[in-house]
Amino acid sequence: MDLQRTTECEGALVSDDNNSLTVRDNRTGKEYDIPIADGTIKAADLGAIKLNDDEPGLATYDPGFVNTASTKSAVTFIDGDKGILEYRGYPIEQLAEKSNFLEVAYLLVYGELPTKEQYDSWVHEITYHTFVHENVKGFMQGFRYDAHPMGMLMASVGALSTFYPEAKNIHDPENRHIQIVRMISKMPTLGAWAFRHAQGKPYVYPDNELSYTENFLSMLFKMSELRFEADPRLVKALDVLFILHADHEQNCSTNAVRSVGSSQVDPYSAVAAGVGALFGPLHGGANEAVLRMLRRIGSKENIPAFIEGVKNGNEKLMGFGHRVYKNFDPRATIIKKACDDVFEVTGVNPLLAIAQELEKIALEDEYFIKRRLYPNVDFYSGLIYEAFQFPPEMFTVLFAIGRTPGWLAQWLELTQDTEQKIARPKQIYTGDRKLTFVPASERWK
Ligand code: CMC
Repeated sequence: MDLQRTTECEGALVSDDNNSLTVRDNRTGKEYDIPIADGTIKAADLGAIKLNDDEPGLATYDPGFVNTASTKSAVTFIDGDKGILEYRGYPIEQLAEKSNFLEVAYLLVYGELPTKEQYDSWVHEITYHTFVHENVKGFMQGFRYDAHPMGMLMASVGALSTFYPEAKNIHDPENRHIQIVRMISKMPTLGAWAFRHAQGKPYVYPDNELSYTENFLSMLFKMSELRFEADPRLVKALDVLFILHADHEQNCSTNAVRSVGSSQVDPYSAVAAGVGALFGPLHGGANEAVLRMLRRIGSKENIPAFIEGVKNGNEKLMGFGHRVYKNFDPRATIIKKACDDVFEVTGVNPLLAIAQELEKIALEDEYFIKRRLYPNVDFYSGLIYEAFQFPPEMFTVLFAIGRTPGWLAQWLELTQDTEQKIARPKQIYTGDRKLTFVPASERWK
């Protein structure tokens, strides 16, 4: 498309087309009309703005993609100012209250709520793919006794690609379906085994008579009893937590899955990249960091000094702030309610009082008000996980199990999006050029 409006132009021209952006390049005096669609301009269109034909065109500089849409997506809608989160158009509050994780997983992956037949078949498929090859068990047993379970999860999800080499046929819809089923099914098995490994306990095999979440709890906590029976209130709370974490549009780990997936690699390799991204303390690792922070603060009296440290830039208030949510995180509101349900069964976590006081003080403090920093999903989730007797290292594994359908829904969308290309951002080169190499034998004389 020829975007150039005039060759020489003295003043800015008003575009005839309301859905366009008129840009004047003051270096050349040229003006360009750039089409606007869906509130965006195509970054590639800026490439037409150049000093001369030999120069590369104009590009945008956007570390962290703070104002760049990398894809069109119909999976998840977020309005950060209004605190709205919807999966495929359904409000998160309704899904958390009235649905269950596997139904939400189907919704995310296939875009619509399942019929009864679709739901039954989906649950059956997921249930009967929870076992992993015995060699996966051997592989996991090779980790050191103190291996972080997220490292074990990342490696074992990646290793699944070697057990299902046909997964690389990403253009075959049936093949994509079976890999999606396998991954949602096996994530809890891998996560639970990573947990048992750290405890030096024998790995527990899946029980196909149990629901998805019950089975996960059984693989985590079963000892010598014939069947592990979890309290239904805890099962429900964990299921809700999985729903809340199931997708969050183009977050860091989803972007990692899409970026790696754009090379057309198999989905296990792409999701392993997502697990790696989630591990970081600014993303899914924040729930672990919150628990460690609360323990370090230790008692309410120490909160003012801690807050001062945050304001002085010495540290961060983990579990606060979000790139998108600037009023409140709707997931945090639902989690606060789930806290009550869980503590009714387990007794109140003593760190809750510190967390509540910390939240109260922060929400009244000018530093946090000015920056629009509110509790995010990770602020209270760790308290629930601890009540389940998970060590902090396991928290992000729980996040990863919940996020798996979202990663896969986004990956599936990517594989069918004809506008997508291999991810390859530009850079602004700041290093040296055209140096003359002197061999070590001469440099070190
Ligand atoms: N504590 C103290 N100050 C903060 C915090 C915090 N938790 N978060 C942001 N700020 C400050 C930041 O220092 C900056 O201040 P200034 O303008 O003076 O430089 C300002 O607020 C804007 O922050 P930012 O880093 O530009 O915001 P971002 O959108 O790039 O980062 C974030 C978002 C989530 C990485 C960040 O808020 C953060 O590091 N929070 C703590 C970690 C955390 O809880 N992460 C979980 C996110 S929710 C779950 C998930 O999606 O993974």
